[in-house]
Amino acid sequence: MYILGIETSCDETGVAIYHSENGLVHHLLYSQIEMHSEYGGVVPELASRDHIRKLIPLVKQLLLESNLTKLNIAAIAYTAGPGLMGALLVGAATAQSLAFAWQVPVVAVHHMEGHLLAPMLEKNPPSFPFVALLISGGHTLLVKVSGVGKYELLGESLDDAVGEAFDKTAKLLGLSYPGGVKLSELAQFGQIRFRFPRPMTDRAGLDFSFSGLKTFALTTFQKSDKTYQDKADIALAFQDAVADTLAIKCRRALQQTGLKTLVVAGGVSANTQIRLTLTKMLESENGQIFFPRPEFCTDNGAMIAYAGYQRFLMKETQNLEIFARPRWAMSEL
Ligand code: KG4
Ligand code: ZN
Repeated sequence: MYILGIETSCDETGVAIYHSENGLVHHLLYSQIEMHSEYGGVVPELASRDHIRKLIPLVKQLLLESNLTKLNIAAIAYTAGPGLMGALLVGAATAQSLAFAWQVPVVAVHHMEGHLLAPMLEKNPPSFPFVALLISGGHTLLVKVSGVGKYELLGESLDDAVGEAFDKTAKLLGLSYPGGVKLSELAQFGQIRFRFPRPMTDRAGLDFSFSGLKTFALTTFQKSDKTYQDKADIALAFQDAVADTLAIKCRRALQQTGLKTLVVAGGVSANTQIRLTLTKMLESENGQIFFPRPEFCTDNGAMIAYAGYQRFLMKETQNLEIFARPRWAMSEL
């Protein structure tokens, strides 16, 4: 069967078709980055309006380029949360309307479950159980995963999410939105000059705190001459601190659970330095690490189509209610 996936939780309109036997058929992504960059961040109302403009044409293009018609689609999955309410409502209303018109079932997908399962789209997918590190703009979660829907929260950020810390640090260095990628590009030109703290690694537990790193970056920047090289050195120090902190906590989570497999997903998992540091850590632990390909680290429709198919198999289809939840803990799944 073919399942259509729709992602509209933030500033990316993503659509994809997943086939139950053959895997991912096709996916398309429209990014609103250019529109929001003028404002230095996502403007929720503009995001919603742009999803309205782009979503249906994107679904049409997706079907056309996949040589499929609406008659081939057997179910529709959409991101129901967490995310921006207006943006979620566009996806929810569109999914429900199409499903009503095409007479197919609808599946509401949790955005972070989408990220979590994204590595399953790769040729060499991880097998359960594993520890998952989910690092995105809104979440930093360490989860023990025993199967689809079987999640045990091991740790989370007590303040800023990793992506948020990247974006805020980038902003104070004067980099344009979206800061995470820009900061990591700048870090390539950095020299090892500063050492930032590895927050909350000196005490037991698997929770994170990243807001102090941002403040550390700010005070270091204010004391510097604010040259390009100063900025690059700060970017490198910040990125190294984040990568090391994540590696320390992931090692701890693997030891605590007795597991040998780590899955890393979410927008920040596209970061080369973080991928490298975590891969090295897993090598030293004789474990295995899995990432989605970089384009499926950040928001996309493919992960929603895949997660939706898994939930469809669990018979978790929706009634006609427009279901969207801006806040939605994974523990409720
Ligand atoms: O998963 P995602 O696309 O959206 C959310 O669900 O939040 O993650 C977006 C976050 C942003 O904070 C962005 O700056 C960050 O991921 N990000 C990166 C990189 N690519 C995206 N952060 C660091 N390095 C990157 N290469
Ligand atoms: Zn996301």
